[in-house]
Amino acid sequence: MRIYLIGFMGSGKSHWGRLLSASMKVPFYDLDDVITQHENKTIPEIFSEKGEEYFRMLEKELLTTLTEANGNMVISCGGGTPCFFGNIDFMKDNGKVIWLNTSTPVLLQRLMKEKNHRPLLRDIPDYEMKAFIVKKLHDRKLYYEQAHLVLPEETLSLEQIKSAIEHE
Ligand code: S3P
Repeated sequence: MRIYLIGFMGSGKSHWGRLLSASMKVPFYDLDDVITQHENKTIPEIFSEKGEEYFRMLEKELLTTLTEANGNMVISCGGGTPCFFGNIDFMKDNGKVIWLNTSTPVLLQRLMKEKNHRPLLRDIPDYEMKAFIVKKLHDRKLYYEQAHLVLPEETLSLEQIKSAIEHE
């Protein structure tokens, strides 16, 4: 089975992806890390040197490659992955899609500390971060909501994720 974890930046996709894959004994991929290795550049470098459009093309290409190469895997997507080029439909057709739904205050708290690693956030002044998250989340909900499973992230346990997948 292929599991695709989606959700906003800072929603815990990589954390839960690692735990879930270890427990399911299937390979784990963090799509941002795969992109970074493929280009031998950091995500902010790719955005600034080649632009977001290039990043999104690569994101789609590597999502497809990983899917074709692995019948069983857990993949933690980037926050924008489901929102471009029909990726949400592709993921739904090829596995189970789980939205880790994390509340705005928790996202804000986490992202304030990690702004500089994220090209979409690094130039936003601290006082505008909350408004940015609220707006971006609102725009992206349209895609996130299409997931097979929506799990509130802050109170989550590994058992809950596994049981939700089993009963889906
Ligand atoms: C992005 C989220 C990032 C990364 C890139 C763009 C987004 O991934 O793919 O900076 O559009 O939300 P994380 O969600 O892992 O931070």
